[in-house]
Amino acid sequence: MRIAATADLHFEPRSATVLRDQFDKVRDAADLLILAGDLTNYGQPTEMETLLNTLVRLRIPTVAVLGNHDYESEQQIELMRMMTAEGIKVLDGSAYERDGVGFAGTKGFVGGFGRGALTAFGEPEIKAFVRASIDAALKLERAMSQLRTTKRVVVLHYAPIASTTEGEAPEISPFLGSSRLAEVIDRHGADLVVHGHAHNGKLNGYTTGAIPVHNVAITLLQSQGPPVAYRIFDV
Ligand SMILES: [Fe+2]
Ligand SMILES: [Fe+2]
Repeated sequence: MRIAATADLHFEPRSATVLRDQFDKVRDAADLLILAGDLTNYGQPTEMETLLNTLVRLRIPTVAVLGNHDYESEQQIELMRMMTAEGIKVLDGSAYERDGVGFAGTKGFVGGFGRGALTAFGEPEIKAFVRASIDAALKLERAMSQLRTTKRVVVLHYAPIASTTEGEAPEISPFLGSSRLAEVIDRHGADLVVHGHAHNGKLNGYTTGAIPVHNVAITLLQSQGPPVAYRIFDV
């Protein structure tokens, strides 16, 4: 299966024409499109409505997770409903199988990487924050444990490893993802992991278990030569 993957469209109605041109040929290039979160800029249903008008015209099976921006207006449930109604497979701690390839997806959360990960100690506010990070990893665990295929793709918004966020200011590293997600991925095994969120990160990295991780934030893809709107992966 050829998979086109992108993230962080941060769609606003005025970007409709640009998006249409960028994704014009995606159906010839791939069998399936992954959108790894931050589909909208402010999580507004009006943004999603215009985006969906563009996406349905691409006529390509689409798998998506939401990103933090899609939560901004607290309309995430409505956004997921709108996407599902247009045939997009929205993964939120869930799995999807198509043509022998399994997709496990969830937004993920912040929390930091490796020894820099925040731990549940001290004030209740810290514990609640860490709890949210652990819950995000548990959601991924639930999604991955549903996979029955040998080929497995993980879709996240937040980064599961630090190396694909390199290039961003080191001060914000803990807010770009969580290595708790990578622990789950290594435990269950996968062929491919894609994420977004780190707009200025690095394209490729590996989990400690040597599973390839790719940052597909569109800003990053467009800063490459030649600039592209999505990357193609063969699984
Ligand atoms: Fe983003
Ligand atoms: Fe984001």
